[in-house]
Amino acid sequence: MTPFFVDPNIAQAKTISKTFYTNPVYFELAKEKIFAKTWQYIGHKDLVPQAEMAYPVNLLAQYLDEPLVITSNKDFQLFCLSNVCTHRGNLMVYEPCSHLKQLRCKYHGRLFHLNGTFISMPEFATVENFIPENNHLKQLPLFEWNKLLFTCLNPVYAVQEFFTEMQNRIGWLPLNKMEHRADLDNEFIVEANWALYCENYLEGFHIPFVHPALNAVIDFSNTPICSWELEKPAMTALTCRWIALIMEKT
Ligand code: FES
Repeated sequence: MTPFFVDPNIAQAKTISKTFYTNPVYFELAKEKIFAKTWQYIGHKDLVPQAEMAYPVNLLAQYLDEPLVITSNKDFQLFCLSNVCTHRGNLMVYEPCSHLKQLRCKYHGRLFHLNGTFISMPEFATVENFIPENNHLKQLPLFEWNKLLFTCLNPVYAVQEFFTEMQNRIGWLPLNKMEHRADLDNEFIVEANWALYCENYLEGFHIPFVHPALNAVIDFSNTPICSWELEKPAMTALTCRWIALIMEKT
C-alpha cells in the first residue's frame, strides 16, 4: 500500500501522509502528472473579442509557467498556441494585439499564420533539409464552454470526462451572459500547498466556525456528502484522485 492510499470509504479514510504536502519531489511531479494532463482555464473569450487578435497567457503562473497565446484568425476562429518561437525560443507575443495578419517573431523575423502554421523566415530560403511542417507553433486543444476557454498541455483524457458532468449540473446557468466585474474582485494570497487548499474547500467542517453567514443559510447536519467518482482519474480536485495520478506509471 502506498503512503498516499485514500480509503474510498469516507468513514475510514484518513489524511494522507504529510510527505505529499512537504516533499518538493511530489510538488514537481504534480506538474507533469496532474496539471499538464488536466484541462485548465486560460481566460474569457472577451480577451479576443474580434477577428485577427492575439492575447498572451501564462498558464498557471509561478507553477507551470507555460507561455501560451490565444489568437483569432480572420474568420474569428480561436486557437490556443505555444507562445514560444520554434527557432530560438523567443516569446512571440508580449502584449495583447489587434489588427494582426500574421504572427512575426521579433528576434529573427520568423513568420506564422494566426493558427500557428509556419510561413517563412528571412534568409532561410536556401537552408537545406529544413522542414516547415516541423516548425509550426504548437497548437493546443481549445475547449470553449460558453465564453470560458480551457486548454490542456497533454490531453490524455477526453475533454468530455472533465466537463460533461459539470455541464449536466450547472449548464442551466446563463454563463454566456456573465461579465467580469473588476470592481468586485478580491485577491487572497494563500501560502499553502495547492492540495491542502482544495481539501479545505471540499470539506465543510470549518463552515460553522469560519463562515457564519454561509452557515446561517444551510442546514449543515442535513447536508449530504457526495462523492463524484469518475471512471478515470480526471476530476482530481473533486475526488482526491490526484494521488492516483501521481502514483500511476505513465
Ligand atoms: S527566435 Fe524567433 S525567429 Fe529566431
